[in-house]
Amino acid sequence: MKLTLLLSVFVLTMTTVLSSTYFFGEQTKDTRIVFRDKLKYEAIPLKKRVKTFTYNGTPIIKAISCYDFQNSEASVNITSGGIGFNYVELRLKSQRSYRLDYAIEIYA
Ligand SMILES: *[C@@H]1O[C@H](CO)[C@@H](O)[C@H](O)[C@H]1NC(C)=O
Repeated sequence: MKLTLLLSVFVLTMTTVLSSTYFFGEQTKDTRIVFRDKLKYEAIPLKKRVKTFTYNGTPIIKAISCYDFQNSEASVNITSGGIGFNYVELRLKSQRSYRLDYAIEIYA
């Protein structure tokens, strides 16, 4: 029983450390999720996949979370708008030979 608990705490810690989530802005008790979507683009051998993603909404964006399902070396940058704006343009780049597999969450 104790061991199971210890093990699950360990696994939880490991996944937190390993997952590469890009988080922009701040999440408070007043922020709520206004948008959620999964982005998936197949891998191109020996190449990095670069995609832009745009969101346009009414409320001012407070936080943006980009969760990489692959824990890869993919990266995300905000290229336009973002925190404090009602729109955002994200640039997503996969690790070489990897697909892009992201969950995007927008909080306002
Ligand atoms: C984001 O910016 C960093 C630093 O300029 C760069 O190393 C990275 O490749 C960029 N990522 C994307 C997806 O544009």
